[in-house]
Amino acid sequence: MAQINPSILSADFARLADEAQAVKGADWLHVDVMDNHFVPNLTLGVPVVESLSRATDTPLDCHLMIEDPDRWAPQYVEAGAGSVTFHAEAAAAPVRLAREIRAKGARASMALKPATPIEPYEDLLPELDMLLIMTVEPGFGGQAFLDIMLPKIRRTRELISRHGLEMWLQVDGGVSAETIERCAEAGADVFVAGSAVYGTEDPAAAVRSLRAQAERATAAAPWACAH
Ligand code: DX5
Ligand code: ZN
Repeated sequence: MAQINPSILSADFARLADEAQAVKGADWLHVDVMDNHFVPNLTLGVPVVESLSRATDTPLDCHLMIEDPDRWAPQYVEAGAGSVTFHAEAAAAPVRLAREIRAKGARASMALKPATPIEPYEDLLPELDMLLIMTVEPGFGGQAFLDIMLPKIRRTRELISRHGLEMWLQVDGGVSAETIERCAEAGADVFVAGSAVYGTEDPAAAVRSLRAQAERATAAAPWACAH
């Protein structure tokens, strides 16, 4: 099943509860946390996640683009996030951190920037519930999808299959009606979309249509048929 996670980075930050409501039917709400150190942008932190989790029934998928996730990630679980993603490039002890996130009751996920290969992390995969492959340089919404990431998505899907893992493979950045099929064919099953959802007249309809597109592409994909 393809999952669509609208990114509130492209929503109106003064009306977050309404914006969450506007994508009813979405699988998760993707919350981009940026600290102006790991990425050159600043967004929101623990108190906003806490309030948002009380304001919506849609589970929160927190993507931490921050330094020192070892210190901060557990606090996002306590704030109500159902899934917490830290960056491989920022984590000092990714295995310990993933175990801590899981022990606190959330799904543990790790993200890779475009220039970070998956191969060094092969043995860590069983510790994770999801792997996030960035398809733009993290920091801003509305950037162009990086096609050159498709081989990494494919290789990651192969590793997941080879190890017989149940984990999800998320793509984030430039995912839209033009690019989502390529991501699904390559092996992604969780799709973050910011501008392609909140930049439209009817965000809920955009979610439905992206999901339908991804499911059609997945049904035809070699990696899904082999399942
Ligand atoms: C970028 C963020 C993304 C962003 C995606 O650093 O991690 O989640 O919101 O926005 P679009 O879908 O517009 O590329
Ligand atoms: Zn994100």
